[in-house]
Amino acid sequence: MSKALVIANWKMNPATFKEAKALLAATKKAADKSKCPVVVAPPTVFLRDLAASVRGKSVSFGLQHGRAEEEGAHTGDTSMLQARDSKASYVIIGHAERRGQGETDADTRAKVAAALKAGLTPILCIGETSRGADGAYLDIVATQLATGLADVPATRLPRVIVVYEPLWTIGASTTMRPHDMHEMAIFIRKTAVGIFGEVGHKLRVLYGGSVNAENVRAMLGEGAIDGLLVGRASTDGTAFAALLHAIVAKR
Ligand code: PGA
Repeated sequence: MSKALVIANWKMNPATFKEAKALLAATKKAADKSKCPVVVAPPTVFLRDLAASVRGKSVSFGLQHGRAEEEGAHTGDTSMLQARDSKASYVIIGHAERRGQGETDADTRAKVAAALKAGLTPILCIGETSRGADGAYLDIVATQLATGLADVPATRLPRVIVVYEPLWTIGASTTMRPHDMHEMAIFIRKTAVGIFGEVGHKLRVLYGGSVNAENVRAMLGEGAIDGLLVGRASTDGTAFAALLHAIVAKR
């Protein structure tokens, strides 16, 4: 497997631009050392300055939350084109924390299409909020995937990233079991093949939810994934360096 893609979702951290610059410096150093490709999704207000400060290709940038419309009366929001103009290359869409505030599958569909149109790589987050014994979560995940990708032509599917991040593993004390992620990765790719045909096998599937230096090897080894979306462990330079080191360290 090629090197795992690691998305550092800083969420609403850190408190100041000064701290953000220091965290970016630590992140870039760790990315250069590990040679893992890293996407930093900082608070939007820091995005342009941080992106302008980085040389080289080890770190690229993403928007945490964008809007599908290109412009207009949308107080507080950011368009995909504005993100692109600020040197973002990726955009997170449908994160569980945004779905919790009302983002719908129809919204994610429009945003994925808008992101591709603007030249951004959409990072579509999917995942159930809780998991019962009846398997209903599979229908939820399949619907989120099918609707979110409904306007993506098959030829562009390899441009899309899907993150499986069930709400019950985000901000928790541990990840889901890597074996269960393996099953979900197969299920997600199978669903994509059902919609798009053979190219569905090429869908990049990542995992997100309480990933850290201790559990990352098992998740990458057994989870059948192409990378990770990291929240808390990406907002501490030392913890993030340890995580990237764990990915590449020889056993
Ligand atoms: P966490 O966040 O790593 O802090 O659990 C992950 C996520 O937002 O998917």
